[in-house]
Amino acid sequence: MQKILILNGPNLNLLGTREPAQYGHTSLADVEAFCRAHGERLGYEVECLQSNWEGALIDKIHEYGRLYRAGEALGVVFNPGAYTHTSIALHDAIKGVDPLPVIECHISNVHARETFRHHSWVSPAAAGIVVGFGVDGYLIAMDGLVRKCTNSAARQAP
Ligand code: DQA
Repeated sequence: MQKILILNGPNLNLLGTREPAQYGHTSLADVEAFCRAHGERLGYEVECLQSNWEGALIDKIHEYGRLYRAGEALGVVFNPGAYTHTSIALHDAIKGVDPLPVIECHISNVHARETFRHHSWVSPAAAGIVVGFGVDGYLIAMDGLVRKCTNSAARQAP
């Protein structure tokens, strides 16, 4: 069974208690559980990783680049947190493992927030972007990844 990685960056371990007006009340453990269940429905094994360390996120993207080349992974759903707005290293990591498809996902609508959140270094390297759907965005991103990256999904009408 191919794998989908749900990758979360800094401070997303605090989901559920962190700024609930922005990010809601659902914990990261609950998000990961519903992503795993959704993956099962779609026919994929879901692996989840959250790290507050940029290098750990980069290492995981590299690992999935290798798995993708081996035919063992479909792609990645990635919420890079604040590294979105600062990290050329994450941009380069995604570019470096092209064509691994990475869907960038943000819980909040970053474009309706402070101007420093409007720019993303990840977006130019991403295969798609999901923004502002709350934690449902992870499921929307998984659906988008499957539809974009499998022939069978592409043939299905919306
Ligand atoms: C976020 C948006 C980022 O600007 C912020 O730094 C986060 C979470 C989101 O999911 O809405 O940590 O990526």
